[in-house]
Amino acid sequence: MRFLLALKSVALATFFLFSVEATAQDASCELTIEANDRMQFSALTMEAPASCTEITVTLTHTGQLPREGMGHNWVLTNSADFNDVANEGMKAGLANNYMPVGDARVIAGTEIIGGGDTASVTFSTSGMAAGGEYTYFCSFPGHWGMMKGSFKLV
Ligand code: CO
Repeated sequence: MRFLLALKSVALATFFLFSVEATAQDASCELTIEANDRMQFSALTMEAPASCTEITVTLTHTGQLPREGMGHNWVLTNSADFNDVANEGMKAGLANNYMPVGDARVIAGTEIIGGGDTASVTFSTSGMAAGGEYTYFCSFPGHWGMMKGSFKLV
């Protein structure tokens, strides 16, 4: 930021740099999705502009059931890692939000929430590729068969 401010007198350079930065802050880099008591996400696909350096996903559980019985979260992995991460997450337990601890294959993940609650996660896209195949899912045991979708940077 200090570097950017130092360039302030160079009008064109400043305009260019602030333009790039503004893209990362754009509302299109903030996504929302809902989950319900019927073990469903509200969307089967999600996408964000590849220009987003960070993405924030906010999950709202619109149901009423408690997190111990109908907990939901939003976890993102490469599609190739989805099954293994889901299975290892089950062993990690609710205390770890059913995600393998310290596992770099988890690109992003929210805590497990119950009905009426909301959780957000902000993650860097630096290790992701436009056109890459990513899967988001709920890692609560037994949920990811239904609760999964395709995530893309476009
Ligand atoms: Co769930």
